[in-house]
Amino acid sequence: MPPIKFAHVVLRTSRYEEMLEWWTSALEAEIRHGNEFLSFMSYDDEHHRVAIVNMPELAEQDRKTAGVEHVAFTFGSLDELFEQYKRLKARGVLPYWSINHGMTLSGYYRDPDGNQVEFQHDLCSLEEADVFMRSPAFAANPIGIKVDFEDLIERYENGEAAESITAYVPA
Ligand SMILES: [Fe+2]
Repeated sequence: MPPIKFAHVVLRTSRYEEMLEWWTSALEAEIRHGNEFLSFMSYDDEHHRVAIVNMPELAEQDRKTAGVEHVAFTFGSLDELFEQYKRLKARGVLPYWSINHGMTLSGYYRDPDGNQVEFQHDLCSLEEADVFMRSPAFAANPIGIKVDFEDLIERYENGEAAESITAYVPA
């Protein structure tokens, strides 16, 4: 039997306080248990979704070594994804890459250590995503189309329909 769910990610850092601040803020999570060495946080019914380990002498990350590319978190609606963008922007945290993947609208962020995090909203059902991911269009471009959240949010707030804002229109 496969696992029943994906449970958590644990990060090691030498920027412990900064990382705790960033992650609790980014996920609107609460610390379920924490001390000066290790903190567990969650934002839902899982006991911990992210844990952060304080290891003061770590070297900086090196993008030339193998490792995790990013982890992703899904928001419940387009409004919630846009609220997340605006909430983080107000704290000076902006995505380094924003993209319509076809099956998701996604903003990619870096935490203070350079770990990459995707905040996304599903644009279609699992069945529709399966069809899309098996299509020639996806094979030709499995990455997606770059978007600008500022532009999308402005159009949305001016009354343009969500379907129009999130439409996957290859360049
Ligand atoms: Fe992703």
